[in-house]
Amino acid sequence: MEVPLALDRAAAAPLHRQIYDQWRAAILGGRFRRGARVPSTRAFAAAYGVSRLTVTAAYEQLVAEGYFEARRGSGTFVSSELPDETLRPIGVPSAAHAAPPRIRLSRYASRLGGVRRLVVSARSINLSKVSPDLTRFPFPLWRRLVSRHLRRASPDVFDHGAQPAGHQGLRAAIAAHIARTRAIRCSPSQVIVVSGSQQALDLCARLLLDPGDEAAVEEPGYPGARQLFAAHGASLRAMPVGDAGPSIDALSHRTRLVHVTPSHQFPTGVSMPLARRLELLDWARTHAAVVLEDDYDSDYRYSGPPLPAMYSLASGAGVVYVGTFSNVMFRGLRIGYLVVPDELIGAFTAAKWMADRHTTLLEQAALADFIDEGHLDRHIRRMRRLYQRRRDVVLELLGRSFGPGVVVRGDAAGLHLTVRFPRAAAISVRAERRGIQLSSTALYYLGRPPRSEFIIGFAAIGERTLRAALSSLAGPAR
Ligand SMILES: Cc1ncc(COP(=O)(O)O)c(C=O)c1O
Repeated sequence: MEVPLALDRAAAAPLHRQIYDQWRAAILGGRFRRGARVPSTRAFAAAYGVSRLTVTAAYEQLVAEGYFEARRGSGTFVSSELPDETLRPIGVPSAAHAAPPRIRLSRYASRLGGVRRLVVSARSINLSKVSPDLTRFPFPLWRRLVSRHLRRASPDVFDHGAQPAGHQGLRAAIAAHIARTRAIRCSPSQVIVVSGSQQALDLCARLLLDPGDEAAVEEPGYPGARQLFAAHGASLRAMPVGDAGPSIDALSHRTRLVHVTPSHQFPTGVSMPLARRLELLDWARTHAAVVLEDDYDSDYRYSGPPLPAMYSLASGAGVVYVGTFSNVMFRGLRIGYLVVPDELIGAFTAAKWMADRHTTLLEQAALADFIDEGHLDRHIRRMRRLYQRRRDVVLELLGRSFGPGVVVRGDAAGLHLTVRFPRAAAISVRAERRGIQLSSTALYYLGRPPRSEFIIGFAAIGERTLRAALSSLAGPAR
């Protein structure tokens, strides 16, 4: 029997896998009749110059899956039991095979239809990016911390299963960190480590909402939360955001969950005053609803004292706190956390275990060191100074170039601010012509967005580039 396989020693796939794949494809492609004898492992190994063990591994898999049959004493054969349908030559599909398979998707899948992702084009200056400056993160140090744990090869980092709620050291480090920075008093056992705050929101939706339940979201607000609750079948109630944060009057007695970003509202950037925080907690207490406090960028505050986290003010109200390292470190890290009341620890741990067992432990261990050894605080201090300078450049240029006609909001904290320009169309055209990506806040509204409101993400762009971009936005149309 002629077996023209093409083995590629430079390919990523191991040789036994290539042998298996190619035999399988050849059989399914109708190149061999049923019952045909195939070369022995010894003959095949000799013909292709590979080890017999390699060939045996591939043959065993083909036998196990029913493509080959091994007859004791007489050799190996293409299975005589392969159904006709299987042996139809590949490349000549029947009409039935040409049509895509009819797979019925769940209701959840149909509700994902509205999820839009911000498309970032490869423009030269991207003012729409709300992101930390990755070029300033101490990656050499981070590499050292990760390798330290790789070298130790300790079972608590490499074994699976014992720590669904997170690495013990990291949970303790987070509890200590938020006690210092956010006045949150909690035990490490109340900290559940998750894969970014997006997973925190997902677990909250699973545990706190049933399909048809009402979830209140800020308007405008964070699409990552809004779309997620809708995908889980919740009905959304919009809370219009004014200068004092989201309106509590908009809530109804049916609202079960209220998602808020009190430190630096996304996207407007306003911070919720203490009185509004207390009012919302009072409302949640009375209505037995849960406040989901999404504290995604509170570490960067440039003016005014930081207000206490709602979690720290809760006294009897149901508050779940969500934090993330995406903005203080880097987004690819995918580590965030929840702080939950004692009685919810079991449910959140079970939900996390069900979702993905646990977040990768190696990075959690490195992150625990990063916090315990003071690197996180130092990095935040450095970045706060840097981002504040960049924010000041934006404010200066907006003031100088556009005068009192522009309204800036949300500049006291975070990685972005919002601007209302008097003439939106002219600004958009100028940005387009000059290769500047500028996004309106329209994507963040459930209802009608204002016409001329834009986001300016300043943290990841150097001062000189910011100056050039903003001057060019203000310049005369070319
Ligand atoms: C309101 C809000 N929550 C959370 C996040 C971060 O999400 P993650 O932790 O999943 O990266 C962001 C993104 O910056 C955000 O704007």
